[in-house]
Amino acid sequence: MTRAISLHDVSKTYTSKGPRVVDRLSLDIAPGEFLVLLGPSGCGKSTLLRMIAGLEEITEGELLLDGEYANDLPPAGRDMAMVFQSFALYPNMTCRDNIGFPLRIATPAADPRPHVDATARMLGIEDLLDRFPRQLSGGERQRVAMGRAIARRPSAFLMDEPLSNLDAKLRTHLRAEISRLTRDLGVTTVYVTHDQSEAMSLGDRVAVLRGGVLQQVGTPRTVYALPRNVFVAAFIGTPRINLLRGLVRAPLGGAMTIRLGTQSLLLPEPLSRDHQLLRVQQGREVVVGLRSEAVRIAAPSAARPGEVPLTGVVEHLEFQGHEVLVHVDTGSSPAHVPELEAARPDRRPVRRRRRESRVQERLRERAGALRGAPVAVLDRPAEPAPPPPAAAQPRLPGDLVVRATPDLALRPGVQVPLLVDLAHLFVFDHHGERVCPAPERAPDLTE
Ligand SMILES: Nc1ncnc2c1ncn2[C@@H]1O[C@H](COP(=O)(O)OP(=O)(O)O)[C@@H](O)[C@H]1O
Ligand SMILES: [Mg+2]
Repeated sequence: MTRAISLHDVSKTYTSKGPRVVDRLSLDIAPGEFLVLLGPSGCGKSTLLRMIAGLEEITEGELLLDGEYANDLPPAGRDMAMVFQSFALYPNMTCRDNIGFPLRIATPAADPRPHVDATARMLGIEDLLDRFPRQLSGGERQRVAMGRAIARRPSAFLMDEPLSNLDAKLRTHLRAEISRLTRDLGVTTVYVTHDQSEAMSLGDRVAVLRGGVLQQVGTPRTVYALPRNVFVAAFIGTPRINLLRGLVRAPLGGAMTIRLGTQSLLLPEPLSRDHQLLRVQQGREVVVGLRSEAVRIAAPSAARPGEVPLTGVVEHLEFQGHEVLVHVDTGSSPAHVPELEAARPDRRPVRRRRRESRVQERLRERAGALRGAPVAVLDRPAEPAPPPPAAAQPRLPGDLVVRATPDLALRPGVQVPLLVDLAHLFVFDHHGERVCPAPERAPDLTE
């Protein structure tokens, strides 16, 4: 049996006046689905998982298990198994007893051996059953912990960064095992991680959290190709998306451009459907997002339809073996997304406006919560927007990272021609919301 897990407007505060560490979060997880909760440290992932497990009280909102209200159901009644980062095994029990323990608790009269043996076979740990945890490596211990979770065939797995304490090679290996096991068992799995590549490789869908607020839920492809905001765009994908400050210029009768410091991206007319919303940004600062596949080093004469030229100076080369990451200075300024590094976003208290009714206030708060606090650090645009004092803006060199083949003879200081593929252009407004590709675009069209 496997379960549907639904969260409706779920919030958590640890103290009566404390912040909402999970903030009005709604999410439906289908039976058998592998859902990954992804976000930086401190964004509320473990809190959410523990509320689903029944280990943490839900302050507001509802948890439904297979459609039934389950906020007050004790953990044991939820038929879920949790796997933690810290391989919580009983040190004085053999692996066999560790794996069999939940079975003995559930059905004391039954012989757990056949179940334990079957589980050990699934995990390839038959040889370890008579050892104690201290006699095992980290990876082996985590396999035993997984065995304990699997043995009694729960209706859902809740995994909280189960691979974080392992080295990179083992992590990739166990990742594949977890994927295979959960799919074979067909059990609903909620998997917490701060590692985007783990999330992308494991999840049927990925739910991205920031400061307790759900930013987006979607298939790995959707959150990568159509991130709802600049935070999601920057959190997902390696190398990290290039984020540059831009200024939209749309002169009447003239072609639209996005100014990037000393150069401009010229958008061919007529504007494509995905670029229509840029008109609204006329005169405003935006964040331009270019993933490494959106830019290549090539002469303007090699441009394919939809590619526009830029130039840059090579600042630094990162040799990766099969490719080189080229850091290029294009004369533009990087845009920063501070929460990618910081544990929690700063949340200034919303000042209550006079003459605003309680209902109005709640609606506004709710709208704010859905979006979360603004993501990008751009200043709000003044109306009409003054031209940016280009020289006054802080600028770091090497503002664009481009992939190149190792045979391209490049060295620092060399000027290189670049082609930007406008089909891969992301633009975010000053709140960090995506305006290009057009937000209403249906993800299914691209999958
Ligand atoms: N028991 C607790 N009491 C008070 N605050 C807590 C408690 N547990 C977690 N928090 C706070 O809640 C926020 C979210 O924590 P957590 O859910 O552990 O985040 P994550 O798992 O994403 O790193 C953090 O700011 C953390 O300090
Ligand atoms: Mg955690």
